Amino acid sequence: MGAVRFSGVNSNIAVIQLGRPIEGSFAVVQPPPPSGGAEWRIESSTEGWRVVREGVEIFWFSVNEETRPITFRQKLELGDKVYGFGEKYARLNRRYKRFNMWNVDQPYNQPSGDPTYASIPLYIVFSAKRCFGVYFDYAGYIGFDTDIERVGEVNVKVDSEGVRVYVLWGETIKDVVASIYSLFGRFTLPPKWALGYHQCRYSYMSQEEVLKVASTIRSRGIPCDAIWLDIDYMDGYADFTWCVDRFPSPKRMIEELHTMGFRLVTIVDVGLPRREGYHPYHLLAEADGFMEDENGEPFLGVVWPGVCVFPDFVRSEVRARWARLISDWLAQGVDGVWLDMNEPSIFLQVAKASRELKRLCEHSANTEQPALTLRSLPRLSTVGLDKTERMVPIDAIHTNDSGERVAHSVIHNAYSLLEAWATHDGFKLLNPEGRWFILTRAGFPGIQRYAALWTGDNQADWGQLEMSVPQLLTLSMCGLPFVGADVGGFGDDADPELMIRWTQLGAFYPFFRNHSSRYSNRREPWVFGEAYERCIRDAVKLRYRFLPQLYALFKRAAEGGEPVIRPLVYEFPEDEATWDIDSEFLVGSNLLVAPVTQPGLRARAVYLPSGSKWLDYWSHRVHSGGGWVLADAPLERIPIFIRENTGVVVSEAQHINTQNSKPVIEAYVEAEARVELYDDDGSTLAYKRGEYFQLDAHFVKHENTLSIITKKLNTGYKPSYTSVGIRLLGREAIENLNLGTIPVEAQTFEYTLNVDIDG
Ligand code: GLC
Repeated sequence: MGAVRFSGVNSNIAVIQLGRPIEGSFAVVQPPPPSGGAEWRIESSTEGWRVVREGVEIFWFSVNEETRPITFRQKLELGDKVYGFGEKYARLNRRYKRFNMWNVDQPYNQPSGDPTYASIPLYIVFSAKRCFGVYFDYAGYIGFDTDIERVGEVNVKVDSEGVRVYVLWGETIKDVVASIYSLFGRFTLPPKWALGYHQCRYSYMSQEEVLKVASTIRSRGIPCDAIWLDIDYMDGYADFTWCVDRFPSPKRMIEELHTMGFRLVTIVDVGLPRREGYHPYHLLAEADGFMEDENGEPFLGVVWPGVCVFPDFVRSEVRARWARLISDWLAQGVDGVWLDMNEPSIFLQVAKASRELKRLCEHSANTEQPALTLRSLPRLSTVGLDKTERMVPIDAIHTNDSGERVAHSVIHNAYSLLEAWATHDGFKLLNPEGRWFILTRAGFPGIQRYAALWTGDNQADWGQLEMSVPQLLTLSMCGLPFVGADVGGFGDDADPELMIRWTQLGAFYPFFRNHSSRYSNRREPWVFGEAYERCIRDAVKLRYRFLPQLYALFKRAAEGGEPVIRPLVYEFPEDEATWDIDSEFLVGSNLLVAPVTQPGLRARAVYLPSGSKWLDYWSHRVHSGGGWVLADAPLERIPIFIRENTGVVVSEAQHINTQNSKPVIEAYVEAEARVELYDDDGSTLAYKRGEYFQLDAHFVKHENTLSIITKKLNTGYKPSYTSVGIRLLGREAIENLNLGTIPVEAQTFEYTLNVDIDG
C-alpha cells in the first residue's frame, strides 16, 4: 500500500490524488493551494487511511490505486445519511443505492432508470456527529454504491488511471454546500424573464401555431415569459435553419412575440447533419472540428436529421466556431438556446447499422421525419456502456488544444459542459454585457456557470411528479441552483388534476416549464376546460407573485453559494425528523412548500420543523414547529407556510416586462424580522458592478407596537416603482405601527410605505 497524500488543502477542502496525477479539470475552477487554511492529515490505519482535520477524524477510507478501475471505499456509520449524486431518480437520502455516472439519454426515469442525463459524482455524508462531502473529479465512468456491495461502506469505482478526490468539510450541510458552490464556480444571474413561466411543446409546428399559442396565453390572462420551439422549426432537423414552408418569416414571428412580451427559445441539438452545402457542417469541417472514430474519420451517428457529425468541443477553435454559429442565430432575435441530445446521445452508430438501417439513415437526411424512433431501437443497458450501438463509442477520439488525441471515455460526462461553455461564448460574442439563457439536458459539475438544467424526459405520472422534488433538491445541493423538471410530464397523457398539482409544484421549481411530447396530449393551460384552467392559471400567477422573492434568492445563489430550493435538513439539521423528508421543501430559508403528489387528496400531512412557529400562508393559522399538521389542500391550492419572524417580497405581473407594479413585503412578525428586497435591470451584468437596488426592512414588535425601519443598502439601480407595500401576516392585532419615526394607528394590515426609492 503506497502512501496517500493531499495535493492541496484550504480550510474546508482537501484534495487526495489517487493513481497517476491528472492535469486540469473541467469542473473545478479554484483548486485549493498545496497548503493553506486548516491543518489536514492523512493517517495510516488498519487496512486503510484516516482523514483528519484539526485533530478530528473526518472519515476512514481504503483505496486500491493499482487496479483499473481504481477502487475507493469509505466507511459509513450507522446513523449516516447519504445525500448527493445529482439528478438521480431516488429519494433525498441515497443510502442503499447504486448509481452509474455516464451521461445517457434516459427517457424512462424510473427506479431502474440509471444512468441518467447528467452525472454529478459527488455525495454528502451527514449525521448528528459529522458532515462532509466527497467529489471525484473525473469525467469518465464512475460507479457508486452506498451500502450494497459491502454493508457500511460507500464503494466507488473510477474507470481511470488517476483521479483527484475532493474532501469537503463543514460544520453543517450549509458549509459543505457553500464549498461545492465555490469549487465549481459561480453561477451568473440569468435574465429575469428566464425565471418566469415557459410554454413549450414538441413541437409547435408552424409560425401560425406559435403566434396562436402566444396570443391565447395573453388573452386568457396566463402570465408567461417565453415560448419554445422544438425540433420541427428546422429544415430537416438541421440546427440554425428554418423550415421555410412552416416558418416562412421567422423575423416577423419573433417581432410579434417580442411585441406581446414573449421571449423565444429554440432547441439546438448537438449532432449536425453531414450534408453538402450546409454551412455549420462546413464551418466546423474546415477546422477538422468533429469527434473522430478510431480511423481518424469523423465519427458518424444517427440523430434526428439522419447521419450526423459531432463537434469536438474540447478544442478552443471548435468552441469559437460554434460560438459564431450561436451568435449569428441569436442575432435574428432568438433569446435563449435549449441544448438537447448532448450526452451526446445518438440513435445508432452508423458503423454498426445494418445495411437496411444505413439506407434509411441516408434517406432520412432529406426528409422531415426522424429516421428512427427511440422505441424502435434496442433499450439501453447500463452494463457494457461501450457495447451499445446507441452511444458514442468510448474509443471515439477528441483532439485537445495541444494536438493530443484523447479518448471519449475520459471526456464523456463533461461533453455537455464544453458545449454549454461554447454556447455561452456565442451569447457573449453578440452582447458582452448581456446575460444569457441556456438550458441543457446533460450535465456535469460546473455546468451551472453556463446553463440551467432540466431532468429530461419524465412521464405524466404522479410518482414522477413526487420524485422531481428530491431530484431537484439534490441538484441544488450539488451546485446547480437553476433546475426544473418538465411540468406535466413529457411522455404519456396527463389528466387535469395531475396538471394542476404539477403546475402548483412547478411554480416553485427554480426553472418552470410546461413541456410535452408529440405523442402525448396537449398541455397548454386551457386544454382541459375552464374550471381546470382557472386552477392552472392561479398556480402560474403564484409563481409571478413570488418572483421578487425568487429573484433575490437567485442573487444569493450567484453570490453566496446558497441553493434557491433546499431540503428541510439544509436549514434544520438539528431536527432529526427532517433528515429524510423530501415530500416538502424550502424556497430560501423560510418559505415551506408542500406539494400534493397524489390524486384525490384535498389535505396533506406537513412536517413543520422545530424551533419556530409557522404561519399557513392561506389561512393565516399559526402552528408551532416540531410536528406534523394536516394542511388543507383544495384543488386550487398548494400548502405553503412562512416561518415565524421572516418575510417574503411579492408582486403581481403578467410577464416580467410588466413587473413594474410595486413590490409588497409580506412579513410574519412575532418579535423581530428582517426582509430583503433585491432588484436590478434584469438583463445585463451591471449588477456585478454594484448597479442594483437593495432594501432591508427591519420589523420589531414590542407588545402591541410594531416598528418598521427600512434601510437602503444599495441604490446603484433605480427601480421603476417608487414605493413598497407592507402586508402583515398573522392574526394578532397590532395597535400601533411605527414607520421609521412616525407612529400610525393600525386599522388594517396593509400599508404603503414610501421608502423614497428616488432619493
Ligand atoms: C428529447 C428531449 C425532449 C424533446 C425531444 C424532441 O427527447 O428530451 O425534451 O422534446 O427530444 O426534440
